[in-house]
Amino acid sequence: MTSIAKSPGKIILFGEHFVVYDNRAILGAIDKYATVTSEKTNTDNILISSSLGKTSIQKDEDEYKIEKKFRPFFHIAKQLISKNNFNKGISIKIESDIPIGAGLGSSSACCVAAAASISNLFNNTDEKEILELAIQAEKTIFPNSSGADCTVSVYGGIIEYQRERGFSKINTESEFNFLIINSEQVHATNKVVERVRKFKEKNEDVFFKLCSEEERLITKALDSMKNNDLEMIGKCMAQNQIFLEQIGVSNDKLLSIIKEIEKITFGAKITGAGDGGCIIALTQKDNDLSEYVNTTKYQTHQVSIQKIGMQVFNT
Ligand code: PMV
Repeated sequence: MTSIAKSPGKIILFGEHFVVYDNRAILGAIDKYATVTSEKTNTDNILISSSLGKTSIQKDEDEYKIEKKFRPFFHIAKQLISKNNFNKGISIKIESDIPIGAGLGSSSACCVAAAASISNLFNNTDEKEILELAIQAEKTIFPNSSGADCTVSVYGGIIEYQRERGFSKINTESEFNFLIINSEQVHATNKVVERVRKFKEKNEDVFFKLCSEEERLITKALDSMKNNDLEMIGKCMAQNQIFLEQIGVSNDKLLSIIKEIEKITFGAKITGAGDGGCIIALTQKDNDLSEYVNTTKYQTHQVSIQKIGMQVFNT
């Protein structure tokens, strides 16, 4: 049997950074996917192939000796082989159209798709178990991962996420479309998070006030989403961007992209850690953005919210 699973990437609509301090964040799954194809094999090895390379590893190997680019997938395969008392190996092929290292949840989507595809080889498609395994796998390379990216990749749609309370799905019939602009400026999430921590330590009162303002903004944004009020959602995004500027995670390049794109969309902001990475702008489905898309020097992606999350198939 060949098992195939497909899982979406993500954007953060509201609340990045503030979520680290137990405030809410709103995330959306996007229609860009990681696809993992897996099969049981007759060898003792775990075979992994992706655009980053190929490897064949003895299944008893210590996972911390394995290159980071393969480690989460080895972890998933090894766990499921052992749990199901399977005495042979597994082959895993990872494909993805989610840009890597851009804050669009590529690594989480690959972990979710791998956990779903391999679990299905053992006839298990329980979403909760797949999510737990995907988060565990991601933690082998990003120990501080909050799990929010994997959660939205499993369940799809738009979720509200809070560290302590977990997640809830936002029920909305509306269709949301975004233009993603990749600044192609490399950023390191952990460094930006650390900088914000220092900012918070030095400016406790300012930070505390920003957290409450962000909370109020999220309540307003959620109401606007339920009412399909694109103009108001766009304004909330622009306001969220101002808060991100105040905590020091924006820069001139990102600001110039935002200034340009907000002229032709409802509103724009950084998505994720900032200091580089991607900008998201809320658009109307039939907005003609071709002039911008064809003339900008940046890579762009037109995406919509993917509502169903991970999907599993047998062939
Ligand atoms: O850049 P991303 O998509 O990995 O998002 C980071 C989001 C932060 O809130 C900055 C950190 C976190 O762990 O939530």
